[in-house]
Amino acid sequence: MKIPETLLQKYNVPTPRYTSYPPANYFHEEFTAEKNNAALIESNQSHPQNISFYLHIPFCGKLCHYCGCNTHISRDQVLIKDYVETLKKEILLYKNLLDPNRKISQIHWGGGTPNYLPIEEVEGIMAMFFKHFEFSQKPEIAMECHPAHLTFDYVDRLIESGINRMSLGVQDFESNVMQAVNRDESIIPINELVQYIKSKGDISINLDFVYGLPFQTPESFNKTIHKAVSANPDRLAIFSYAHVPWLKKAQQKLEKYDLPNAEQKIALFDTAFHVLTEAGYVPIGLDHFAKPKDELSIALNAKALHRNFQGYCTRETTGQVYALGVSGISQLDNAYLQNTKDLRIYKKAIEAGELPVEKVYFVNDEEKIVREVINELMCNNYLSFPRIATKYKITIDELKAILTFEEETIKQFEVEGLLIYKEDTVEITDEGQFFMRNIAASFDPKMKDNQKNFSKAL
Ligand SMILES: C[S@@+](CC[C@H](N)C(=O)[O-])C[C@H]1O[C@@H](n2cnc3c(N)ncnc32)[C@H](O)[C@@H]1O
Ligand code: SF4
Repeated sequence: MKIPETLLQKYNVPTPRYTSYPPANYFHEEFTAEKNNAALIESNQSHPQNISFYLHIPFCGKLCHYCGCNTHISRDQVLIKDYVETLKKEILLYKNLLDPNRKISQIHWGGGTPNYLPIEEVEGIMAMFFKHFEFSQKPEIAMECHPAHLTFDYVDRLIESGINRMSLGVQDFESNVMQAVNRDESIIPINELVQYIKSKGDISINLDFVYGLPFQTPESFNKTIHKAVSANPDRLAIFSYAHVPWLKKAQQKLEKYDLPNAEQKIALFDTAFHVLTEAGYVPIGLDHFAKPKDELSIALNAKALHRNFQGYCTRETTGQVYALGVSGISQLDNAYLQNTKDLRIYKKAIEAGELPVEKVYFVNDEEKIVREVINELMCNNYLSFPRIATKYKITIDELKAILTFEEETIKQFEVEGLLIYKEDTVEITDEGQFFMRNIAASFDPKMKDNQKNFSKAL
């Protein structure tokens, strides 16, 4: 697929990633503990009804220079153990706030590097959840893992403690790329690791890759993605490198390399796209691929795909997200609550029996509608004005007014071949997938007078 240079230039502008709506840089500090607690209590009556927990484990052994995550580089075992104890107290805090009739449908361990924790600590935390909460029938218990820290024994014990999804951060198979970004490679070859995990039962495996890193070329990335396919994962995420050196200082270290430009990045993604689709994987949203029988592919077909900060999910597994640990963001129907990033402030708040919230956003009714529109586009490549209008009991004209919908902008996307607009529905084309963030932004009233800084769209 050849994307014209003019479109690349036109649309490679700062654009939200829309992992939340409004995006996290709209969150603010105007809150009170009472208001936050009230939002949590109110969430017991809101939809979705299920509980989804996100656990942030910030620790990593060494900093990858491309990293955009919230990390704390430390080998201090006392500090790590202390963090786990605080996390357990936070679990108890939530036990008291959440309706005991609600069930956990999802637990997502993210980081940092959750598998940098001693395995006993993971087991202890999982045991707390099983002791204090009810679970839905097939809960999704996922962990983001750095393969360099995985051993066969660690994998066995993760699975025994209830983990049934593993995401392995491969990023690239080429050693020169990994060295340039200061990242250790897996000790156990990835295909062997995947085979071993699969032999343990019904464990879903995702592999993460990043494109736009030093030394990556379409040829080298072609090799990397072929190798990924031969490992036979259920899903793959092919992330565009988000270069935000004003937020992540270590990324400046990559600027001494000739980093791939927008056109080269599209060529890298295009390579991955072809290899994966030819191997039978279905493209999901912006950057994910799944086997056709995977529940994400089935949900996409049924236009029932959802998304939260943790990635894509289905109607069955999605829940309101309650985030535990530093920097985690709770994603409730009515509010976003972001935890402090500071380990000491976090501990102090939990010890005092308070939520460690640093920033919030209370979502109003109109923003909920915009959020649903953007989610529909980003997840299902599709938007039906009549469906959304009916759901929110408003007219199509009222919906368009809320979105500050401009017919000319949509028509322009259509002329450029990025979407099909007919009978009050919008369908994003294959070419349009590259510009999904730009299309979504055109439905976002906040982008009309945007003053915020975002990473570039491509
Ligand atoms: C928390 S990490 C996964 C677990 C573990 N820390 C690791 O690195 O393997 C989440 C994923 O985010 C992606 N990532 C990190 N920094 C990124 C960036 N600046 N741009 C795009 N993707 C990024 C990587 O693919 C990484 O696997
Ligand atoms: S990419 Fe993963 S391992 Fe590397 S610094 Fe970021 S969170 Fe840690």
